[in-house]
Amino acid sequence: MKENFILFSGTANRPLAEAIARQLGVSLGNCTIERFPDGEVSVEIDESVNERIVFLVQPTSPPVDANLIELLAFADACRRAGASSIIAIVPYFGYARGDKRHGSSQAIMARLVADLMQTAGINRVVTVDLHAPQIEGFFQIPVDSLTATPILYEALNAQLLQETVVVSPDTGRIPMALEFAGRLGIKVAVLHKQRSSGTQTDITHVIGEVEGKACLIVDDMISTGGTIVNSIETLLKAGAKPEITVAATHGLLVQNAKEKLSCQSLQQILITDTIPQQPQDWTQLQVVSLGSLLGTEIKRIVTGNSLVN
Ligand code: R5P
Repeated sequence: MKENFILFSGTANRPLAEAIARQLGVSLGNCTIERFPDGEVSVEIDESVNERIVFLVQPTSPPVDANLIELLAFADACRRAGASSIIAIVPYFGYARGDKRHGSSQAIMARLVADLMQTAGINRVVTVDLHAPQIEGFFQIPVDSLTATPILYEALNAQLLQETVVVSPDTGRIPMALEFAGRLGIKVAVLHKQRSSGTQTDITHVIGEVEGKACLIVDDMISTGGTIVNSIETLLKAGAKPEITVAATHGLLVQNAKEKLSCQSLQQILITDTIPQQPQDWTQLQVVSLGSLLGTEIKRIVTGNSLVN
């Protein structure tokens, strides 16, 4: 099997690519990725990919545009070098929140990204917990949309208090909350969130019973931390216990997210390694690896096995 494919890492998340390589028992392919002084990227593949299946690990996390262009350049280099198939492992898919127009003069960025990936020669995309599942429909190529929920659930299970309710911070995350609730055998509450800008959200209603309960807030991503902080404030006002846990797939943690999330009621934040985390003095933060999930998916693609969920 190992001769059939080659696994490369872009610069966005080499530790995750290394974890996937360990899972597969392979070494990462050699390549040289450099930036010119003006910021332009240069990608050179340092070994033959001719007639081989190429997997490239490159989440399009911040800096989103630079990581996206690097992915496209990599795909273009592999296509020109004769790769038989180019499979992009994009565990975090940047611009996924741009899945529709909110006014008549906005771009649909997720669609544009899908078009760019296909134009660059990418034949298949593997991603995790897409913000909006319908983004799959923007592609003409296969998209394997995986979920980190079972891995997050396993990491949480032993630590959750009794009398916990799963909280969806907005209506978009209800399916994720229901999945956690089903696995844990507990109830769901939903917050009604309205976003007035990229950094400002307001929660207007709590649907469900949270009084006297510990809460597990689940989300696909934590960006500035604003959604989580607003959710915690709303839950505490509604009588929830100051015993809050957060589980989210993608830890963008931009701007001053760490400071915002350093509140006493927030006992644990569980995220995955779709985005690399700098070692930091943050005892509440726990990171679980998706190396095994993604390694298994690569094996499945290479051996042509069907997906078993
Ligand atoms: C929004 O719909 C997403 O699911 C997340 O709740 C949101 O993007 C998180 O962003 P922030 O941490 O900046 O509130």
